[in-house]
Formats: sequence, structure tokens, C-alpha cells
Amino acid sequence: MLEMILAVDKNGCIGKSGDLPWRIPKDLQHFKSKTINKIVVMGYSTWVSLEKKDLPNRKNLIISRKKSGNKFINDLKDVIELSKEHEVVVIGGAEIYNQLAAHADKIHVTHVDTIVDKGDTFFDMTLLNLFTKASSTKMSDNGYDLEFATYTPKPKKGS
Ligand SMILES: NC(=O)c1ccc[n+]([C@@H]2O[C@H](COP(=O)([O-])OP(=O)(O)OC[C@H]3O[C@@H](n4cnc5c(N)ncnc54)[C@H](OP(=O)(O)O)[C@@H]3O)[C@@H](O)[C@H]2O)c1
Repeated sequence: MLEMILAVDKNGCIGKSGDLPWRIPKDLQHFKSKTINKIVVMGYSTWVSLEKKDLPNRKNLIISRKKSGNKFINDLKDVIELSKEHEVVVIGGAEIYNQLAAHADKIHVTHVDTIVDKGDTFFDMTLLNLFTKASSTKMSDNGYDLEFATYTPKPKKGS
């Protein structure tokens, strides 16, 4: 199973200056509940944003073209292969989401009802056109209105 989890503003912004654009405790709790005890896969820049510290109680794998070693994956095809045998959650950032979204079995999106000023990292929201919203829960936290939505792939034409 290949899942993705991300939080986006109304324009698809997910990052600013190498960090998240917001602090939303309920979203962090949601992120934890969806990733705990699973394999999390992230791009090298996201790992840097976590100060190269593993998220606890999850196997952390990093995607990089340059680094090698047990922790590193050099080819995105290996992420897809791994997900055939294990529960894998892609946790960012934009470069990785945008390349792997079409292969996801499920995408958890936290829609944050805001527009980030000077955001610099964007999820391609048109990728969600490949998916149907399967569930949605709305709440507020830290001054933000939130929608926790889960998307599943639309049936492929002819199937
Ligand atoms: N809102 C959210 O849900 C969320 C979640 C995660 C991250 N973020 C934010 O997103 C930003 C980081 O995202 P980003 O898009 O800049 O970077 P990223 O996707 O985290 O990492 C990019 C790096 O991944 C590696 N990579 C990309 N494509 C690859 C491929 N096809 N094969 C092998 N390696 C590949 C490269 O590493 P090398 O240079 O080492 O080759 C590349 O520099 C930060 O601001 C972070 O806080 C937000």
C-alpha cells in the first residue's frame, strides 16, 4: 500500500523557507496517527527540515540521487516496489509528492483554509483530479479552519 500525507493551503503551498508554513498541533497529531509503525519515505530536503532526525516508531527512508547507504533510496521505482509488500507513507516534500502521486493508493490531504504569504514549495493540486474524495472531517486549530480529507484513485477508464 502506497499512501501519501500532506497539508496544503488553498493554492497547494506546502512549504516556506525549508519549513512548514504553519504550526497546527491537530494536524501533527493526524500525521502521527497515519504514519505510526509504518515506513515513512521522504525527500532529502524534507529530511534536512527534520534536522536529519528520524521520526520515532517509524522506519525512515530518504530519497536522494546523491547519497548512498541503507537509509537512502536512489530510484523512486524502489519506493513503488517496497509498497507492494509493506505499508509505505510518502511524507514529502513537493518534488517527491509530485512524482509519486499518480502511483498512490490513498492520499491524506489536510486542506488549510489560508493562503501562505511568500510560500515557495507547492504540491501540484491538479494531481488530485486523478482521485475521488472518499472522506472528510472538518475542524479548527490554532486559528486555522482545516479539512482532513482522504482521496482514493478514480477507476481507470475501461476497467
Ligand atoms: N506541508 C506538508 O505536508 C509538507 C510535508 C513535507 C515537507 N514539506 C515542506 O516541503 C519542503 C521540502 O520539499 P522540496 O520539494 O523542496 O524537497 P523534497 O521533495 O523533500 O526533497 C527533494 C530532494 O529529493 C531528492 N529527489 C527528488 N526527486 C528524486 C528522484 N526522482 N530520485 C532520487 N532523488 C530524488 C533530491 O535529493 P538530492 O538532492 O539529495 O539528490 C532532491 O533534492 C520544505 O519546506 C518542507 O517543510 C511540507
